[in-house]
Amino acid sequence: MRLDVVSIFPEYLTPLDLSLIGKARRDGLLDLHVHDLRAFTTDRHHTVDDSPFGGGAGMVMKPEPWAAALEHVVAEGAGAGGAEPHADVPHLLVPGPGGVPFTQAMAHQLAAEPWLAFACGRYEGIDERVYEHAAERMPVTVVSLGDYVLNGGEVAVLAVVEAVARLLPGVVGNAASLVEESHEGGLLEYPVYTRPASWVDGDTVRDVPAVLLSGDHGAIERWRHDERVARTAARRPDLVAAAATVGGLYDLDVTVAVPADAPELLVLQRACWMPEGRVSGSWRIPPLDEELDDVVRGLGEWTTWVVRTPAAGGAPGRLVGSVRGRLRPGDPHVWESGRLMVAPDLQGRGLGRALLELAEAGAPATVDTFWINTGRVSEGNIRRYRRAGYRLLPGEGSFPGSVDLTKRRR
Ligand SMILES: C[S@@+](CC[C@H](N)C(=O)[O-])C[C@H]1O[C@@H](n2cnc3c(N)ncnc32)[C@H](O)[C@@H]1O
Repeated sequence: MRLDVVSIFPEYLTPLDLSLIGKARRDGLLDLHVHDLRAFTTDRHHTVDDSPFGGGAGMVMKPEPWAAALEHVVAEGAGAGGAEPHADVPHLLVPGPGGVPFTQAMAHQLAAEPWLAFACGRYEGIDERVYEHAAERMPVTVVSLGDYVLNGGEVAVLAVVEAVARLLPGVVGNAASLVEESHEGGLLEYPVYTRPASWVDGDTVRDVPAVLLSGDHGAIERWRHDERVARTAARRPDLVAAAATVGGLYDLDVTVAVPADAPELLVLQRACWMPEGRVSGSWRIPPLDEELDDVVRGLGEWTTWVVRTPAAGGAPGRLVGSVRGRLRPGDPHVWESGRLMVAPDLQGRGLGRALLELAEAGAPATVDTFWINTGRVSEGNIRRYRRAGYRLLPGEGSFPGSVDLTKRRR
């Protein structure tokens, strides 16, 4: 991965020579270039700032040195070649307290990119026209480290580079350690301990939790999961709604839907089936085509389960997922599941799989076959159902443009 950083304090970035990030640079995994913004000024005093139009405190960074610096970064990087091919232009990240909050999820996205550039602001920030200029030439994202104000973007760059670089293959020796960390899967990490098992701390003996010494890996896993959830609830209640979906339906409220749920169900199904409509080029897909009356009628024909985040402050929780199931009309041996949906922001956390299991668990003893249907273009769904043990049936599914999948009950 190539990284370019433009700053008026290039020496601020010297910690990137140290530790694992420094080693990654020496190993050729990171190709870091730091540029002094003042090298792109044209006056004797290397001026990079001026007073703000409209008055007010502080100074604003002038546009011309920034345009010249970015042009240089693009020209140098695009011509560099190197062992790893990268894009024609970098993804420009501009640290700023008014930006998108930097998260572990964003770190993962950035780690997949070949070339990142950073523009470190100082003073009251950079002339707004620089953002317009840059956005006409490359992707630009303003990134905030948190809801506080720093003196300059360099500290943010150190944080972002470290969080991104450690996700690159080969940077952290034991890749497994990355998986269990805080914010992976939406939960904070469980408490960790090392020797001695009993620490005599003055007058107090502090023991490691007994389960960790038990050798019972199942019990240790359960304990760690519970600790992660408890710690997340205590320290970051804002994460709990998302965290609750990890590992199934843990802590979410599951109920059988009633007509009062129908408006939210309609909104959720439209959100969830939009991508399929777009890919298939048709909006005549039942979940998109239905109106509120159809959803209410469906509640009478199927058992529909809805999943909500816990109610808080007297307000009902948010409807974040749903699935429905029924005996095939006229056939007591087949259980049909459908309308499996998970709110877009909570997808990929195991909730869909748990919902499918919930629907299957609703099947009476007469059932020997589970059936589900999805759009022929919904490759992701087909893959997920196959992982859940379903087999794709040949030919057209029960609806135009769809496929059917079945699985024997075990
Ligand atoms: C003093 S701040 C400017 C703040 C600006 N006047 C505002 O209120 O949005 C100077 C520079 O520090 C950096 N900075 C400050 N707080 C930051 C944060 N929370 N996250 C990322 N960068 C930050 C940005 O590069 C910013 O241009």
